[in-house]
Amino acid sequence: LLAASLQSNALPFTPIEPSDADKLILAEGFQYHVVAKWGDKLNKTEKYGTHNDFVTFISSIKQAKNEGILWVNHEYTNPLFINGKPYTKGETRTKAEVLAEMESVGGSIVKIRKNPKDSQWKIVQGDPVNKRITALTEIPFAWHEPIAGSKTAIGTLANCAGGQTPWGSALSCEENYDTFWGELDLSKPDKPKIRMGDYGWDTVFHYTPEHYGWVVEINPLTGQAKKLVALGRFAHEAATVWQLPDKRCVVYTGDDKEDEHLYKFIASESNSLEKGKLYVANTERGQWISLDIQDQPILQQHFASQTEVLIRCREAAKLVGATPLNRPEDIEIDPITKDIFVCLTNNARKGDVYGSIMRITEKDGKDGLRFESKVFMAGGPDTGFACPDNMVFDNKGNLWFTSDMYNMNKGDYIPFKNNGFFFVPMSGENAGKVYQVASAPMDAEFTGPCFSPDYETLFLCVQHPGENSKSLKELTSHFPDGGDSIPKSCLVAITGQALQTIIQ
Ligand code: FEO
Ligand code: CA
Ligand code: CA
Ligand code: CA
Repeated sequence: LLAASLQSNALPFTPIEPSDADKLILAEGFQYHVVAKWGDKLNKTEKYGTHNDFVTFISSIKQAKNEGILWVNHEYTNPLFINGKPYTKGETRTKAEVLAEMESVGGSIVKIRKNPKDSQWKIVQGDPVNKRITALTEIPFAWHEPIAGSKTAIGTLANCAGGQTPWGSALSCEENYDTFWGELDLSKPDKPKIRMGDYGWDTVFHYTPEHYGWVVEINPLTGQAKKLVALGRFAHEAATVWQLPDKRCVVYTGDDKEDEHLYKFIASESNSLEKGKLYVANTERGQWISLDIQDQPILQQHFASQTEVLIRCREAAKLVGATPLNRPEDIEIDPITKDIFVCLTNNARKGDVYGSIMRITEKDGKDGLRFESKVFMAGGPDTGFACPDNMVFDNKGNLWFTSDMYNMNKGDYIPFKNNGFFFVPMSGENAGKVYQVASAPMDAEFTGPCFSPDYETLFLCVQHPGENSKSLKELTSHFPDGGDSIPKSCLVAITGQALQTIIQ
């Protein structure tokens, strides 16, 4: 039975059935409006990027009532929509095509305001805070040594999920950077290229893969960014921050690849993530294992310096005994129990097609090194979801999450239809049950769930509608503009009586 059949009077809405319509469908009692979409003007020269993913409302920067500053990730791009034709690996690209695609990714700093007349959130066009960071922006490394010979990188890309610091900066995670700049075999002295990028950018520009795969910290007031080398280099999905009583921060971050790992960083200075120690999880023993070369003779045998350990983090993690996990994606901390929830999307190679959500309880506080972990819930036809990806907790401690089925409407995923957005009450008679709140347009996934500080608005992104379109004449989606329009990734605001009932 799918979740939609788990009706209950105690729920303030009736869950929806899975759908394969090219629409954003919401359960009754919820409404949405589009806040920003790919191509919207931020100011005279900059536009909102494409493939929006993580969203964070910078709540520590005080704004007027009903105004806010958002950081939004623009994870990847689609040559068909940007340049009018699909790109097949091996074809040559023009510089102009590549530059247009490089400008469409990275992130946006966006000032938004709720119009008192219709209560709709909109971009405040021309606001001085509005800014784009793209694959062309020069970004320094926050580290005492150069990275592959350079103190700065050109651009950020593959910005998947992220986090926010208590001092009001955004964290943006560079995930599948190898799809843009390829990958090198860093274990070989001549560093042979073992993977070309998927977009042909690396046939026009030559940026080294070691400059990507970092967590990027952005000051939303100035637009200044830096790459946080101390948090290691891998396909970072999320960077979830916990502040200790002495103002140092702990950051949980995962590597979204089959059989890769979960990490935690413990900063050594307050209000900064530039220095500290990185640990990796062994979930069988419930231990955080140091990745500091000073602590680990085996790392001293394999790597020349801590810089090299951080650049080749995946290799280092395996040497110290990290547990392979089923694609760690988003991480959130339960505001009531303070437990850490980690989406493990799936692992086809190991037969885990539906994925699960793992729950971690730290035994000695967030800066301790012992923990317990268990499966909080598993995906599948019985629970009504598959491939959990992004999560957010509301003010009552209920969990909301998105699904990201790459092969949706095929094989094992047929019963779930399009990707969805789900609600899990964490207390009361329905605690732990899964209810579908929304269904995404064709080929899209929902990303970046994020509440406004008053919890009355739930921001959510629609990412990559129409992704499987073969040409502009055969579009699989026209969301959100309808008609014959090109589909556009967009940020929507969800409001409504059902949400009001849940958060009050
Ligand atoms: Fe960009 Fe792991 O999702
Ligand atoms: Ca994700
Ligand atoms: Ca999240
Ligand atoms: Ca995803």
